[in-house]
Amino acid sequence: MNKLHNEIKNADYIIIGSPIYYGEVSSQTKLFTDRFYSVFNSKTKNFDDKKLILVYTQGNPNPKTYESYAKHKVDHLYNFMNFNVVNTLIAAGIF
Ligand SMILES: Cc1cc2nc3c(=O)[nH]c(=O)nc-3n(C[C@H](O)[C@H](O)[C@H](O)COP(=O)(O)O)c2cc1C
Repeated sequence: MNKLHNEIKNADYIIIGSPIYYGEVSSQTKLFTDRFYSVFNSKTKNFDDKKLILVYTQGNPNPKTYESYAKHKVDHLYNFMNFNVVNTLIAAGIF
């Protein structure tokens, strides 16, 4: 993750994409974002104002179905980590 944190630090934008599995992000995505926590207590690293785009794919054809979940992730994870979430894209009806 140190290598990935440095790559995030040097990037203009970050795009995090995940399929929706049982109403949530995939376990791989969760594993990746859980490792952001070390940045929270770091004196040398931060994600302050790093531009972030979120992309979700889902089988359900209604793009509003997981909207509140997507907002929850922004409030409790991405804003908490001080990312600047510029857009959330939902690709619905994709199996
Ligand atoms: C284990 C599993 C759980 C899924 N749960 C949901 C779900 O809760 N809601 C939904 O709309 N689609 C669900 N899907 C469909 C995926 O979101 C859809 O296939 C995804 O866009 C494609 O991702 P993948 O090909 O990388 O698995 C699920 C698919 C899998 C395999």
